[in-house]
Amino acid sequence: MSWADVYPWSAPETGRPVIRQVYDQVRGAIHAGALKPGGRLPSSRDLAHRLGVARASVVAAYDQLLAEGYAEGRTGSGTYVSLDLSGVLDVAAAEVSFGGTVSSEAAPSAIEVLAASPEALTFSNGRTLMDARAQDAWSVSTRRALRTLEPSHFGYAEPAGDLRLRAAIADYLRAARGVVCDPAQVIVTAGAQHAVDLAARLLLRPGDRVWLEDPGYANTWQALVAAGAEGHAIPVDRSGLVVQAGIAAAPDARAVFVTPSHQFPLGVAMSMGRRLELIAWARAAGAWIVEDDYASEFRYAGAPLPSLQGLDGGERVIYVGTFNKSLFPGLRLGYLVAPRSLVASFAALRRLADRQPPSLTQAITLDFLESGQFAAHIRRRRLAYKAQRDALAAALQRRLGPVLTVDVPDQGMHLIAYLNDRRSDLDAEARAAAKGVLTRAISPLYHQAPPRQGLLLGFTGFPPAAMAPGVARLAEALEA
Ligand SMILES: Cc1ncc(COP(=O)(O)O)c(C=O)c1O
Repeated sequence: MSWADVYPWSAPETGRPVIRQVYDQVRGAIHAGALKPGGRLPSSRDLAHRLGVARASVVAAYDQLLAEGYAEGRTGSGTYVSLDLSGVLDVAAAEVSFGGTVSSEAAPSAIEVLAASPEALTFSNGRTLMDARAQDAWSVSTRRALRTLEPSHFGYAEPAGDLRLRAAIADYLRAARGVVCDPAQVIVTAGAQHAVDLAARLLLRPGDRVWLEDPGYANTWQALVAAGAEGHAIPVDRSGLVVQAGIAAAPDARAVFVTPSHQFPLGVAMSMGRRLELIAWARAAGAWIVEDDYASEFRYAGAPLPSLQGLDGGERVIYVGTFNKSLFPGLRLGYLVAPRSLVASFAALRRLADRQPPSLTQAITLDFLESGQFAAHIRRRRLAYKAQRDALAAALQRRLGPVLTVDVPDQGMHLIAYLNDRRSDLDAEARAAAKGVLTRAISPLYHQAPPRQGLLLGFTGFPPAAMAPGVARLAEALEA
């Protein structure tokens, strides 16, 4: 009896390419040690018969194993497991058999662990939920994009991104955010962070003064420090960035980086008065405004305030947006809209950094936008995230009312729970983390303004049912 007689082969499932499944099974047999280096693989006819597949599929799978060095062919006598694998497979087998060390194949990936227990991560920020309809639609877009790939998708391409995607983004931004632009002004990036970093590199020289929100987003601050700029922390109040304070601190600043739709971290929207004031200063000072509109899609009450870029007419504003929040963070796709005078420089900078955005990701996202699925997804998410926000706020009120003062924002992906009784937010953050609840203390996000003590709680990544258990654990932590 040969090993192939006892090996648990399984017939291919529908929905996955047969060649890939044959390849996976043979490779799995090699890794599992069922088939040793130097051992002979079943003939293609025999394996095709065992699996109930066409012989050509087995031949193609074997060709792949030969190409990758898993197998070697000996003329006239069949296909064998490569002798070169001896040392490599011994190590893998030892990992499997020695207690305590789990093989990388058997261990669930970190992502699987996280997905299996989402409440373990409540309330980490910036997560999103793709419901079953969005996941199906994304799969359809992926398959369609794969079927319709053109030769241009396989080569080097435009550093600023695929022109059809840029046109779709321009259409979306004109309608949704009042952004004034044509497709040529859209530069596709890996996300908002990439866009902010590109803007810092392009606009700032070492020693240039720049205004930053206080408190503000740490990664933006660090990108500016990396560019050698001199950061000026400008306070934020209920109406957003206090423009007059900026003018008093650094009237000749070269740029300002702001999050007007949903200030990070306080969650306030910049008032119309402040928006106009900021634009007036930028025009007079010849300064650039970098508008990080990272969560603009999620507005839960009232009409969205138009973008700074649209109010300004696109002269002094670099508009930044991202699909990593509206879809999912692992996507790594976003965009910036540059004033015409800066488009060529942004494209050149992107070319230097990483040549171009990935064509397949762009093609899938374009299909998702053009098929109407993106708009439908945003409509559903807005309702779902509002319900999640309300469930979190209600649970906090019920369980921790005397300890926390909750600020429920009309927009964005997180809320802030301010700590009453002069408690330290860093201490609260550490206690919560010890109970498996992820929050972020806001006091380290302040620079010169007197820090408030509060916890930033993300609500977009967790269904309403996860909120009460998460808050119960937070309460145990804070009451301990
Ligand atoms: C204010 C702000 N800007 C930018 C980003 C980064 O977004 P992206 O994932 O698109 O790079 C985040 C992410 O949390 C953010 O909160």
